[in-house]
Amino acid sequence: MVFDWSDKKVYVAGHHGLVGSGLVRALTRAGAGEVIGWRSAELDLRDRDATFQALHEAAPDVVIDAAARVGGIMANSTYPVDFLQDNMLIQTNVMDAAHAAGVDRLLFLGSSCIYPRHATQPIRESSLMTGPLEPTNQAYAMAKISGIFYIDAFRTQYGKRWISAMPTNLYGPCDNFDLETSHVLPAFIRRFHEAKVEGKDKVTLWGTGSPRREFLHVDDLADACLMLIDAYDSTETINIGWGDDLPIKELAETVASVVGFEGEIEWDTSKPDGMPRKLLDTSRINALGWRPTITLRDGVASTYDWYINNHQAA
Ligand SMILES: NC(=O)c1ccc[n+]([C@@H]2O[C@H](COP(=O)([O-])OP(=O)(O)OC[C@H]3O[C@@H](n4cnc5c(N)ncnc54)[C@H](OP(=O)(O)O)[C@@H]3O)[C@@H](O)[C@H]2O)c1
Repeated sequence: MVFDWSDKKVYVAGHHGLVGSGLVRALTRAGAGEVIGWRSAELDLRDRDATFQALHEAAPDVVIDAAARVGGIMANSTYPVDFLQDNMLIQTNVMDAAHAAGVDRLLFLGSSCIYPRHATQPIRESSLMTGPLEPTNQAYAMAKISGIFYIDAFRTQYGKRWISAMPTNLYGPCDNFDLETSHVLPAFIRRFHEAKVEGKDKVTLWGTGSPRREFLHVDDLADACLMLIDAYDSTETINIGWGDDLPIKELAETVASVVGFEGEIEWDTSKPDGMPRKLLDTSRINALGWRPTITLRDGVASTYDWYINNHQAA
């Protein structure tokens, strides 16, 4: 039987973020009975008592945990205590409070950085804990791995139908366009847009452009999350990805073409490339009948539209 969202009250932790706002759109499309969320200024999920009280009063049927302290390599390696501590506190408080409030279904979102640095590509869920992590985001990854095991513990000890999922690199509306802290795709959108507006004839990007990466639109991710809450019931985590990757050079050309930047793209090969490839194996989620639908070009176009209309906020 297909999950009936219409009588469900859903709490999206992190509802204002890239992933959380995509989840709110998907839940609205699915006709969810009620969708609730609080900004961190209203409810700091590191505050255990406040989190327990909020979930006790709200009494949601479903909880999706998309709240996290996220950041790039620089932030992760400079503030490992904050990344480990905040994420452990947020996820533990959300899960414990959801348990106390009798929540039946909970989805915890992790990230592909949980997998070993040298995992065989495409990366299967079974490669978890089979080797050392990438040192630059180890603190974040360790917190997320603990979250997966905490889900497992709730399933074992309390018979909860709770699950965890690991998305690939995401992009879309409400992304972070701050060049100091943003991911590669929104950074490219901003760089090419500003070069176009300023009439520049060249944009210089880091590395050789040859590493391959996978990108998934956040609306596809959100649809996958709703499907999993309905259809997936396993202690093992599940990857959510596009299923294929492309060279960063091709990504840059696609973004430049969507934005309308017609100048030269130069590659500064003295700068590091990062890992040569990072692709998730999606056969497990594909076997459930799910496939993403938003092509990179269409997704970049709608993200660029959002950026143009929300310049100040972005
Ligand atoms: N973006 C990606 O490419 C990607 C890829 C794979 C997995 N993920 C996972 O998806 C999840 C969400 O990531 P995102 O990209 O959506 O991040 P994001 O845009 O930075 O959103 C994070 C959200 O967490 C909330 N938050 C942070 N600290 C909080 C606190 N102490 N109390 C309450 N709320 C707090 C923020 O709320 P306020 O805005 O109100 O402060 C924000 O809404 C993370 O678990 C991440 O690992 C993301």
